Amino acid sequence: MKTILTGIKPTGMAHLGNILGAVQPAIDLANKSVDTQSIFFIADYHALTSVRDPIAFKEDVYSIAATWIALGLDTKKSIFYKQSDVSEIFELQWILSCMTPKGDMNRAHSYKDKVQKNLDNKKDPDLGVNMGLFSYPILMAADILLYDTNLVPVGKDQKQHIEIARSIAQRINEFYGEGTLIEPQEVLQESGASYVVGLDGRKMSKSYDNAIGVWETEKRLKKLINKIKTDSSEPDTPKNPDDSFIMDLYKLFATPEQIAQEEALYREGIGWGYAKAHLFDVVNESLKAPREKYNELMQNKSALDEVLEDGAKRARVVASKTLSRVRNKMTGF
Ligand code: ADP
Ligand code: TRP
Repeated sequence: MKTILTGIKPTGMAHLGNILGAVQPAIDLANKSVDTQSIFFIADYHALTSVRDPIAFKEDVYSIAATWIALGLDTKKSIFYKQSDVSEIFELQWILSCMTPKGDMNRAHSYKDKVQKNLDNKKDPDLGVNMGLFSYPILMAADILLYDTNLVPVGKDQKQHIEIARSIAQRINEFYGEGTLIEPQEVLQESGASYVVGLDGRKMSKSYDNAIGVWETEKRLKKLINKIKTDSSEPDTPKNPDDSFIMDLYKLFATPEQIAQEEALYREGIGWGYAKAHLFDVVNESLKAPREKYNELMQNKSALDEVLEDGAKRARVVASKTLSRVRNKMTGF
């Protein structure tokens, strides 16, 4: 039996890129895999490296939990929990820290980039760097190694983190014997150009301020879609459907028949206002039912607590076994 695991940082309302590029593929993978244990968790303590507002922190954790469930995660079939509920992770993190050369952390991208930015600005290299940020990859390695994970679906920005987890496992296995830890493999989700575009035609991202939040109200969704950048061509000018990011987004939500019809309209000449109205219709149609479910879940936080607590309980059964094995190999106790 293989174990698939991935973690999701709670960072505000998910956008269309997050659900189409990460959440939905992970849920599909979990649903279609046989002989597989899938584990999904909310990496809330990873967010603690930067989030300083407890009210926003808590709300974001619930929001991401509700997002996964509203989009069809089967929380009975998969194990779904929040990281901070599984204290074994933090014990393993210490053990791994003792087996990780500091130099490896110096080379980790996000720390290295931050230091470089400080140096470029002629500031102290470690300005704004807390130890959580510095050892972020070791906590992530603990997240993964604790469940004898085989496969980790992630975006390509996370590739280095999985490589670090693998090299920590290798080092420990060399010292304490094969099988002390399982060496995980990344499954890269985002391949080259296949990302979801945002309002300005660049990759949809929180950091570009071009995102469409998944759970916006209908009214706000319509308003956002109306903000998509277009050229100034007249309504009856024929338009190339292969060169329009309104069409790119449309294709992600429409049926093949709808796409064929819409492409024909583009070639005849369609006003951008109509193209956006059609886009709104298909996006809204596919988000309607999950949006209702999401809103219901967000109104009933104690039900979400129950789901997460049940997930943590099941996670800890697996976690405590691995931890005992590793502790025994490394300390004799
Ligand atoms: P953001 O760029 O908005 O900060 P994150 O880096 O938090 O998003 O992304 C979380 C996950 O969502 C990543 O694993 C990535 O695979 C996926 N993702 C983010 N933006 C997109 C996008 N525009 N298209 C496809 N997938 C995306
Ligand atoms: N660092 C990941 C991100 O920012 C989230 C994460 C934490 C994760 N622990 C993980 C992903 C373990 C995969 C496996 O997206």
